Amino acid sequence: MNSEIAKNLLLVGPPGAGKGTQAALLCEELSLERIDTGSLIRAAIKEGSPLGIQAKDYVSKGQLVPDELIIGLILDVLQQVKDKGSKFLLDGFPRNLVQAEALASALEEKDLLLDKVIAISVDEGKLVERITGRRICTNKACNAVYHTVFSPSKDGDLCEKCGSATYQRDDDKEELVTARLNTYNRETQPLLTYYQQKGILLNIDGNKAPSEVFKDIKAALK
Ligand code: AP5
Repeated sequence: MNSEIAKNLLLVGPPGAGKGTQAALLCEELSLERIDTGSLIRAAIKEGSPLGIQAKDYVSKGQLVPDELIIGLILDVLQQVKDKGSKFLLDGFPRNLVQAEALASALEEKDLLLDKVIAISVDEGKLVERITGRRICTNKACNAVYHTVFSPSKDGDLCEKCGSATYQRDDDKEELVTARLNTYNRETQPLLTYYQQKGILLNIDGNKAPSEVFKDIKAALK
């Protein structure tokens, strides 16, 4: 582990900003446990669990799932990470001020610290292109993420790593992207000021290539 910069981290940014892409790189390099809220919700929807049944309607409209459904779930996962003695990277939680306050109380109670919040910003015009072109491997153990233009699979519609089919997320259709961006601007963006005031916010320009963004994040964490 690169212990010099291994910390408890949170990634914030609009849909398509590259949070998942950077989360995968950071977790591998720093041996962090990733808590990926969006994937947990999509898995619950696929399973048809009580959370999934209730969450489905909100996700399909580009809205946030209600706080009472998500807060308990994520805090349980956080406890599991603490029990393992690992550092964590939160991707997709908190997403509004109520969730941020719930996280702050839970961290205090568990004697944990959120060291840095990495805010990735990208020009709005680019976000739509990134989201609508995203393709994901259907094999959960692989979970590779491609882009039809920026990082296509060498094997077309198949994953070049494991040979499984790739797919487009239901909420990545163009008609939903505006709703998701509006939700971000209204509910999640205020978190930037919240964490700025706590003195732990790092602003990162996400308009560059993934490897450049990763370099900038690592430099900012040092
Ligand atoms: P979630 O799954 O968290 O989606 P999101 O925040 O909208 O973010 P995305 O996954 O779309 O984008 P990303 O920033 O990870 O981009 P990526 O790296 O994949 O949430 C989905 C839904 O779940 C929400 O709408 C909500 O309903 C619900 N939800 C989740 N958390 C919740 C919470 N806490 N409370 C309530 N509800 C919640 O990159 C995108 C594409 O761009 C990829 O194809 C990638 O290859 C490409 N790319 C990435 N970086 C670059 C780059 N630098 N240059 C060029 N291409 C790039």
